[in-house]
Amino acid sequence: MEKKKTKIIIADDDPMVRNTVSKILEMFGHEVTTVVDGSGVFERVDDSFDVIILDINMPGMDGFATINELNRRNFDIPVLFLTGAGSMDYAVKAINLGAYDFLTKPIEDLDIFNVKIRRAIEKRMYVLKERQYKESLEDDVREKTMMLEKQNKLLFRYSENLEKATVQMMSSMQNAMEEKDYYTAGHTMRVTEYAVLLGKAMDIDEENQLVLRRAAQFHDIGKLVIDLSCIQKPGKLTEDEWKLIRKHPSVGANIVKPLKFMEREQFIIRHHHERMDGKGYPAGIQGEQLDQLTKILIVVDSYDAMTSKRNYRKNLNMDEALQELHVCSGTQFDKETVEVFSKTIVDFNPAESIFSKEYQDNYTLPEK
Ligand SMILES: [Fe+2]
Repeated sequence: MEKKKTKIIIADDDPMVRNTVSKILEMFGHEVTTVVDGSGVFERVDDSFDVIILDINMPGMDGFATINELNRRNFDIPVLFLTGAGSMDYAVKAINLGAYDFLTKPIEDLDIFNVKIRRAIEKRMYVLKERQYKESLEDDVREKTMMLEKQNKLLFRYSENLEKATVQMMSSMQNAMEEKDYYTAGHTMRVTEYAVLLGKAMDIDEENQLVLRRAAQFHDIGKLVIDLSCIQKPGKLTEDEWKLIRKHPSVGANIVKPLKFMEREQFIIRHHHERMDGKGYPAGIQGEQLDQLTKILIVVDSYDAMTSKRNYRKNLNMDEALQELHVCSGTQFDKETVEVFSKTIVDFNPAESIFSKEYQDNYTLPEK
């Protein structure tokens, strides 16, 4: 790369001094610009200059006023003052004002002159390098921040996909389970449908709606690992068979337990057969120990159980089931939840289902 010529600007009202100094500087290989006073400096100077040489006494803007203005505008270009012999006071003042050095005129010792110019140039190079370093550091930080943001996004997408894949896999298992049991087929979908419907009617925020929907979707997943042949037999279930079936909430909760993103769903799954009066299972917890989402699932799950056909009993229609919910309101079910549900379900229009038409064919809703 071709070495850039050093650019120096000289302000002096004396044409002879301007001439001499610029000749010497050009001889040393520098590119020189000359002006007659301080205002001339501001007309010509820009960041491409490396050194500024100022006379002190100039008829227009003098050397001191010029350096003050240069400082104010943060020029960062070393300033050398030209001082006549015996004007030490001026030199001291110039240094105090931030001048880098001073040159005596007339120039008698070319070596000293050259050394002083070279030192000023080195100072400028140092300033530029420092600036460049700072800029590259800032670029670096910016680049690294961008990279981190990108990685964060990727990580987020990855965990989101992982969540989706897990939920999908569990849905497949769920479907397989429902195929085993003709009578519960469609139950999960209807319960999910009702839960989302009631959640919306109870003004539950979106995040909680998602939790409720997932909990509804997997509330009976525990039945996956329980031998359900007893459910399919005609007639009533024995106490032992009931005992077995009653294990499904805990079994289901344990299935989703390793999934940290389903911690709240786990609670709802575990307690979807509890009652407000504490006579439910598996924990026998009651009232406000049950959160709103669990109370919703308890109501919609029971409603669907009542309205679905079972081998061992006849199913109820909508009115009969709602009446039953009211009878058990306050003991088995949360009062407000039953209240809102009975108002909401009568107006439910299957055309507004959360499931697409294709899925809706997999389940039938109870008669009104
Ligand atoms: Fe259940």
